[in-house]
Amino acid sequence: MEQLSQQEKDLIREKIMEKYDRVALSPGGCFRYPIGREGVRALGYPPELWQDLPDDVLASFCGVGNPFSLGSVQPGEAVLDIGCGAGFDAFVAAKLAGPQGRVVGIDITPAMVAKAKEHLRRVPVPQLVFQMGEAEALPFPDRDFDVVISNGVLNLTLDKEKAVGEIYRVLKPGGRAMLADMVLVEALPPDRERRIENWYQ
Ligand SMILES: C[S@@+](CC[C@H](N)C(=O)[O-])C[C@H]1O[C@@H](n2cnc3c(N)ncnc32)[C@H](O)[C@@H]1O
Repeated sequence: MEQLSQQEKDLIREKIMEKYDRVALSPGGCFRYPIGREGVRALGYPPELWQDLPDDVLASFCGVGNPFSLGSVQPGEAVLDIGCGAGFDAFVAAKLAGPQGRVVGIDITPAMVAKAKEHLRRVPVPQLVFQMGEAEALPFPDRDFDVVISNGVLNLTLDKEKAVGEIYRVLKPGGRAMLADMVLVEALPPDRERRIENWYQ
């Protein structure tokens, strides 16, 4: 794909945040894949990891895969969830990391972070926090986390090399990145390749 101009990048970012503002209010109708409880079930998350969570946390899930199918989180580990949305995967990670662990969920969309914080007020988990942050400039020191997870977010980043570099930077030596995302399995038709709307429709 050709390089995007700065104007195109600004527009895409604005539209992505607009979309996830809407998703935070009501995710129904925003995706072409199963989301919410149906998505969680279809992706094989073990029920013991989520059945205690309130319906609202499940309903807001809009991940595209299951990062925990790639490996687990051990008690006491520090986990970063990049693009945490309303928090489902971060709650799962906090359950696995346990009270000695530390889990941070970050997202660029203020309404998503507000929703995740609201969920946390309802289900307090001392080892879990949510805050604003973006994948391309993680607000953490080097070698801060044992595990980085992310679900359906890297495809939305405008500078993927930077985002992957940031994951590497904040992982401790021997740390693990468990990333779920969408991939193209064949080239897009030429007339669709440069459609800006591909990023947020
Ligand atoms: C498909 S949703 C997935 C949300 C969550 N991971 C889940 O599984 O429910 C994508 C999320 O990524 C966030 N996002 C998009 N671009 C981002 C970026 N550059 N840095 C951090 N978060 C981003 C959006 O605000 C949105 O909450």
